[in-house]
Amino acid sequence: METLEERIKAGIRDVPDFPEEGVIFKDITPLLNCPELFHEVIEHFRARYEGRDIDHVVAIESRGFLFGAPLAYAMGVGLSLVRKPNKLPHKTFGVDYALEYGTDRVEMHVDGVDDDSRVVVVDDVLATGGTAAATCELVERCGASVVECAFLIELDFLNGREKLEGHEVHSLAVY
Ligand code: PRP
Ligand code: MG
Repeated sequence: METLEERIKAGIRDVPDFPEEGVIFKDITPLLNCPELFHEVIEHFRARYEGRDIDHVVAIESRGFLFGAPLAYAMGVGLSLVRKPNKLPHKTFGVDYALEYGTDRVEMHVDGVDDDSRVVVVDDVLATGGTAAATCELVERCGASVVECAFLIELDFLNGREKLEGHEVHSLAVY
């Protein structure tokens, strides 16, 4: 009997040299296209956070939306979006974070989560951790607290957990 991690890994396709040479891209589209597996992933997260007084799922653009939206729906809690710059129409908080070359930025509506909310942050992949750490900062700037950061995939060799120090991290398939 395969474990959930084994089943997830079977649903992720390695694409060599994408988006650039030397990178092996983790393609989640086969998993999304397998209804039983997709359901199992969302159901795993739903069961994990049941009874933990979660008020909001905060999902990170764009692939995080694919998991965050069905999770919020399944949990019956609000969904708040963290987006790339200049996508959100209302007043936002923004956090810049460093990349290997240059910087990136994520934004969230100032009323995206309430100031006493308990939040689960959701994304598909934890790589260097920059995106998720910036997202935690946004949530905390709203006065809310991050109960856990949840990922489908964790690229362990990039040490993303270090950037998320002080936060709980849960990932389903570790490479
Ligand atoms: C990828 C992935 C995570 C992020 C992880 O998103 O979906 O959001 O990178 O990287 P980090 O841990 O090093 O910050 P990407 O920016 O490629 O955009 P997408 O989700 O819109 O495809
Ligand atoms: Mg992403």
